[in-house]
Amino acid sequence: MPIATIPLSPYIGLEVHGLDLERDFDEATRQALLDAWIRGGILLFRGCRSAEAHLRLSRCFGQLESSATPDLNVDDNPYLMELKYDPEKGKGKGPMMRVNGAERAGWLGWHWDQSFTPVIVRGAVLRMIEPAAIAGETGFIDGIAAWQRLPVQLQERIENLEVVYHFTPEMDKNPYGFPPDLVNLKTDPESMAELRKYDFPPVVHPLVIIHPETGRKVLKLSPMHAKHVLGMDAAQSDALLHQLADHLVDERYAYFHKWREDDVIVWDNWRVIHSAAGVPLDVRRRAQRTTLRGDYGHGRYLDPAQGREPRTATIVD
Ligand SMILES: [Fe+2]
Repeated sequence: MPIATIPLSPYIGLEVHGLDLERDFDEATRQALLDAWIRGGILLFRGCRSAEAHLRLSRCFGQLESSATPDLNVDDNPYLMELKYDPEKGKGKGPMMRVNGAERAGWLGWHWDQSFTPVIVRGAVLRMIEPAAIAGETGFIDGIAAWQRLPVQLQERIENLEVVYHFTPEMDKNPYGFPPDLVNLKTDPESMAELRKYDFPPVVHPLVIIHPETGRKVLKLSPMHAKHVLGMDAAQSDALLHQLADHLVDERYAYFHKWREDDVIVWDNWRVIHSAAGVPLDVRRRAQRTTLRGDYGHGRYLDPAQGREPRTATIVD
């Protein structure tokens, strides 16, 4: 099954054409998709009309990882997570923020998935079933290109540094790479208790990694949940993380996907950061996501007594 790709933006991403998503893929097609994914960082497919097609496509890119949040899964399928906002049923549920003066459900700042655990999943595959009528975009930025845009002196300074991450349930308390006017609209004790039910011990990740397939360096900073540079004076660490996060989340280099029904995007979580624009509080949106298993091998708990495996596997981020 020959495939063709066209760039999604000057900076990142490829759109795939010529693929029949209702059929199984032969090995040559699967390899062509993998090659395109590694080359593009993210891949967009149109016309993925069923959960079966979504799962079949997801398995082209690796083994699926089950979710530790079974309450979010579809019909108890451990690999298919439902992400939706329904004003009729969901109003008042989930985090709500005011961002740049607009109220949003489902907003998330720039991050790679699971930065607050030692094992970083390889990627995720998101299928849009009901796009938002307003907003709802997902943003993507390439960490390889961000590294290459850094001045050489700064590259040399940060190459061997490590960053401590700790899950921060209060989104507006994440200081790095976030809009300065972000306001958490859900501060009642019940909402805060719901967010604080997650208990993740602090972890450490390198600030720069080598992307395994391309051999290129990645600015591997996830601004959301980043706390400090390991072993660095607090003021210096704070200044450096602000500088690097501002550099990384420069939206001039981002691709923002405006979703259509049955779109699928797969992202390489070892290379790309992403963000969610969220939706106005009266706008519906429904998507489903699979997660690609993987361990890039560099993360660890800050406290070595915690061991290597994540104590809690996954939450939606
Ligand atoms: Fe995410």
